[in-house]
Amino acid sequence: MSDALANGPAPAISVRELCFSWPKGEQVLKSCSLEVPKGEFWMLLGTNGSGKSTLLRLLAGLLQPNSGEIRVEGQMGFVFQNPDHQLVMPTVGADVAFGLVEEKLSFGQVKTRVREALAAVNLEMLERRPIYALSGGQKQRVAIAGAIARHCEVLLLDEPTALLDPDSQLDLVAQVRSLVKSRAITALWVTHRLDELNYCDGAFLLEQGELADKGDPERLKGRLLAL
Ligand SMILES: Nc1ncnc2c1ncn2[C@@H]1O[C@H](COP(=O)(O)OP(=O)(O)O)[C@@H](O)[C@H]1O
Ligand SMILES: [Mg+2]
Repeated sequence: MSDALANGPAPAISVRELCFSWPKGEQVLKSCSLEVPKGEFWMLLGTNGSGKSTLLRLLAGLLQPNSGEIRVEGQMGFVFQNPDHQLVMPTVGADVAFGLVEEKLSFGQVKTRVREALAAVNLEMLERRPIYALSGGQKQRVAIAGAIARHCEVLLLDEPTALLDPDSQLDLVAQVRSLVKSRAITALWVTHRLDELNYCDGAFLLEQGELADKGDPERLKGRLLAL
């Protein structure tokens, strides 16, 4: 355990000396180690191609590492950069319910979970709305509601604001912060936008596949602005 975390909460996400290369490609992640304490909201920063999405996919088990250890405690939810790659059903309510098909729930339990999850992201009025009629920010909130309905304890978000305008961007990050805090969810949010750093408890900086820095968001922001 790192010194910074020695007296804090146990990590919900823990990565040790993680290495990953694409077949026949160069090494994308070079011995990365990081920990996200339970219930905290951390961000992962880095320029395009630095390996952020690869790291998130490894955490989600969508890719296998070449070496190293990954431990994620609890039910995991994943939010992709482009919600059109994630939302599969015709309406808001049906999409959130779709994520529950593997759980043995009654019709009434599914309804309750869907309503609670939509209320958590302020979309309860849009349960019957077709997905195509939503804004980008609303689609991202439906994707997040899907994870909340499954009672996720760890939420991984890969540049969820990349396709949003600046107002919706900061609305989304503020809403996700208050949501994960009120539910003690551990979140790792990938971004390259420095103004989002104001909302996190801590941040990691990835540079060409190496974890170049981690810790206090204000300090990291200063470092990045000085580049
Ligand atoms: N499916 C893939 N096959 C081969 N190389 C890939 C694939 N996806 C990403 N890469 C490469 O891996 C590196 C890291 O990419 P990525 O993790 O997507 O970076 P980031 O999310 O930080 O922009 C880049 O050099 C990228 O070209
Ligand atoms: Mg990416």
